[in-house]
Amino acid sequence: MKAAYFNAYGGTEKVEIGEQPKPKVLAGQLRIKMQAASVNPIDWKTLNGDLKALIKPPFPIRLGSDGAGIVESIGENAGESIGENVTNFKIGDEVYFRCHKMDTGTFAEYFCVPAELVAHKPKNMSFIDAASIPLVGLTVLQSLKEKAGMTAGSKVLIHAGAGGVGTFAIQYAKACGAYVATTASKKRKTLLTKLGADEIIDYHNQAVENVLSDFDIVLDTLGESVHKASYKTLKQGGVLVSVLGIPDNETVADYDANFIVKLVARLHNRKMHRQAAKYGAKYKHHLMYANGAQLVEITKLIEAKKIVAIIDSTFPLDQVQAAFARSITGRSQGKIIITMNE
Ligand SMILES: NC(=O)c1ccc[n+]([C@@H]2O[C@H](COP(=O)([O-])OP(=O)(O)OC[C@H]3O[C@@H](n4cnc5c(N)ncnc54)[C@H](OP(=O)(O)O)[C@@H]3O)[C@@H](O)[C@H]2O)c1
Repeated sequence: MKAAYFNAYGGTEKVEIGEQPKPKVLAGQLRIKMQAASVNPIDWKTLNGDLKALIKPPFPIRLGSDGAGIVESIGENAGESIGENVTNFKIGDEVYFRCHKMDTGTFAEYFCVPAELVAHKPKNMSFIDAASIPLVGLTVLQSLKEKAGMTAGSKVLIHAGAGGVGTFAIQYAKACGAYVATTASKKRKTLLTKLGADEIIDYHNQAVENVLSDFDIVLDTLGESVHKASYKTLKQGGVLVSVLGIPDNETVADYDANFIVKLVARLHNRKMHRQAAKYGAKYKHHLMYANGAQLVEITKLIEAKKIVAIIDSTFPLDQVQAAFARSITGRSQGKIIITMNE
């Protein structure tokens, strides 16, 4: 089967598109005939070698972290009940999923994934639209709901509202009854207003700390450069959840990281917590994880028309290099998609 992979860490020139063995479906797995998958910065960060300290699988490393497709084969036991909110699957079902963090490769004609990580594709979405959702959707649900404790009425600042995470986060927070402010360029205003943002801060001309105050939560998709200004927008006890930089100590402990990496993470996290405390706020880091039951929650919001897909551009499988180049610009609006069924 055709797949995107790499045999050495480096830039987009290291991406290869070629024949790879069709994966064998194991017990508890579904083999998906992939229709579309989304580009996430983690894909080209993995290619660069940025994640080597945490994950270092053998070459060739296949690319692609989420996607949508059709169930083509079911491993023994995969159809049995696997938990609340996780429905059973049959051959021909249209599904979407985020793969396990240790097992990438959705930029391919076929991909095998544990059934508990999969959900039925929203009925009102195409494969391209559905493929745009899993990684960013789960990131947002876990960051805002699980980590930050967002509830109806929470005041939430979402950085980079026009990005893949941001466009989903604005809609999700509004669907949960939050008040939403977001940072974006002026040209994104029409879209972000349509998605429900209550306040849009043109980050080229305005400083968030001069405009916002008494917020409950900041979702940081930009990194340490925005932390100090963000803390000034929070009320006492407010939470900044960052999805960038070094993961928290518990997350690092989950990986096969060496002593040095664990020590660096500990020191970094101590520094982050101290800085937050200076402003009377809390710092949390989140590294998203795959979860089929949470995807079912997201499906319900999509089918209730509370969340739509925002697609920046689509590229066929043999143009993964060009798709990565677009993502690396940091200027995409919504999601970049790889299509497998041209
Ligand atoms: N920890 C996790 O589990 C996790 C999960 C998902 C993503 N992430 C990380 O989160 C980051 C964002 O991901 P993404 O997929 O949303 O990226 P993305 O789609 O590439 O973000 C691009 C958007 O960012 C906006 N932007 C760039 N600089 C900005 C600034 N200074 N202020 C406001 N907006 C700005 C751009 O808008 P303009 O062109 O208008 O500036 C553009 O629309 C990535 O680094 C990714 O690796 C982490």
